[in-house]
Amino acid sequence: MPWSLDPIGTLRTPHTDPAGMPIQPPGAAGVAGTAELDTEYTAGLADLDGFSHVILVYLFDRASGFDLAVVPFLDTTPRGLFSTRAPRRPNPIGLSIVRLVRVDGAVLHLDGVDMLDGTPLLDVKPFVPAFDVPDGACRTGWLEDVGDGARKRRSDGRFG
Ligand SMILES: C[S@@+](CC[C@H](N)C(=O)[O-])C[C@H]1O[C@@H](n2cnc3c(N)ncnc32)[C@H](O)[C@@H]1O
Repeated sequence: MPWSLDPIGTLRTPHTDPAGMPIQPPGAAGVAGTAELDTEYTAGLADLDGFSHVILVYLFDRASGFDLAVVPFLDTTPRGLFSTRAPRRPNPIGLSIVRLVRVDGAVLHLDGVDMLDGTPLLDVKPFVPAFDVPDGACRTGWLEDVGDGARKRRSDGRFG
């Protein structure tokens, strides 16, 4: 059965062109943005200011279609779509963990934004290391060959 989701607000960022923009929050350190929620949700932001980071769930609204094999931004080898963070997906949902600078009414002031300006916001959750960071060593598949510098690379403008 199909589902429909209504955005709860809009992400405002300095990124108007996918070419050259960060591809993940570590590459966007120092890049300020805001999450402007519809005011009907303001009461739901109570207590969020105690968290240093939030998980943003949003729609890649400028991506369309998908391929099951993609050449990721960080690689030259085709990879299975679901082993990548490519924006073109069957359900084009993005996820970013960013620093919460402050809460001002219905507006979240953020640092480390890696999405285009005007991106529709679907949800906000507090980032909790005890919940969100798995115990033990993590394997990172094909990304292990790309190296740590990959975290800070920038997009070449392809929508992946
Ligand atoms: C590789 S994705 C990663 C986003 C998120 N951190 C994730 O892992 O889901 C980031 C890239 O998606 C593209 N992008 C960002 N916002 C978008 C939007 N609203 N619609 C389509 N593509 C977008 C840009 O090329 C950006 O560099």
